[in-house]
Amino acid sequence: MKILVTGGCGFIGSHTCCELLDNNYEVVVIDNLSNSKEDVIDKIKKITNKDLKFYKGDLCDKELVDKIFKNENIDAVIHFAGLKAVGESVKKPLLYYRNNFDSTLTLLEVMCKYNCKKLVFSSSATVYGNPKTLPIKEDFPLKTTNPYGSTKLYIEGILKDLYNSDHEWSIAVLRYFNPIGAHKSYLIGENPNDIPNNLMPYIVKVATGKLEQLSIFGNDYNTIDGTGVRDYIHVVDLAIGHIKAIELINKEKGIDFYNLGTGHGYSVLEIVKTFEKVNNVKVNYKITDRRPGDIDACYADCSYALKKLNFKATKTIEEMVKDSYEYAKRNS
Ligand code: NAD
Ligand code: UFG
Repeated sequence: MKILVTGGCGFIGSHTCCELLDNNYEVVVIDNLSNSKEDVIDKIKKITNKDLKFYKGDLCDKELVDKIFKNENIDAVIHFAGLKAVGESVKKPLLYYRNNFDSTLTLLEVMCKYNCKKLVFSSSATVYGNPKTLPIKEDFPLKTTNPYGSTKLYIEGILKDLYNSDHEWSIAVLRYFNPIGAHKSYLIGENPNDIPNNLMPYIVKVATGKLEQLSIFGNDYNTIDGTGVRDYIHVVDLAIGHIKAIELINKEKGIDFYNLGTGHGYSVLEIVKTFEKVNNVKVNYKITDRRPGDIDACYADCSYALKKLNFKATKTIEEMVKDSYEYAKRNS
């Protein structure tokens, strides 16, 4: 079975390519390298000892996407490509709407043309906004607070409309919680060029001496120690979730929505302390004001993904913080 992976050079996409190749899927990647590097392709080949095809280009380029489908006989698509920085999306909403919508619509139109109707889409826990209760179930009310989140929510709606118009589609929408960690080869991982927005990339830059101090955004949240609580999931577990989703959409038509997390919430301070203990390194931090838009706590009810996808994350928070640090040490 041949899978087109959009955004396959990125953090989650590259790990998913490895799992796909390890499971004997054929892989074709399209990526414009706007947030990744081309050498990731060679690293994936080295890790898996398998070949894959890479098209360097933009998913908004309809001629290119058409050419890929004409050349490759694609059976299904995993659609990761997109811009993902919440803060940047508030400052540059049109960039986010243009890129995330245009790429998705182009992809879907070409998929229709070539009668390829199997899709896994990267959504996000951000579509739940500030949930009234925890853990979060898939049928909770949906609401977003920033343009990035809105692109995810609107695309979920587009996919629902598409399925309603044509019941031949099989679509799995995966709502990721907070992916961290890295592949055990430490060849691929998360390595933002700019100052990181997210907690774990920031912690590793402080631990490796690239940044001076972590700002913990608020200690007056309604949580165990006042700092924000999130559901961190190892990126390799998350990648395995995509294999399960591909297996399901290959068997069943329809559209469905799945939380991919661990079901456990950890506070920022718990993450910092665990990171320090496991890696035997000091993380310099200070408590600052809350970051606008942040919520107190967010963690998944994972029972539906277990029931329908037979997916359960297995890696511990200790493995996650170890792998994040190990990757950063070897790649900074
Ligand atoms: P990433 O930025 O590492 O990967 C995305 C890839 O898509 C990059 O390699 C980028 O170059 C590529 N890309 C972007 N726009 C493109 C376009 N128009 N054409 C071709 N390539 C394009 O991000 P990631 O963390 O791997 O996230 C993958 C997906 O998962 C994204 O859709 C993201 O919104 C979603 N997601 C991520 C998180 C997270 O915390 N990492 C959480 C929830 C959802
Ligand atoms: N945090 C800090 N300091 C930092 C960065 C983050 O204290 O420098 C805190 C935040 O306040 C929050 C926690 O660490 O309490 C996690 O923050 P992240 O920025 O790592 O992650 P978010 O939960 O805010 O958002 C991430 C992605 C979104 C995605 C969401 C899914 O950025 O795109 O997870 O749950 F939608």
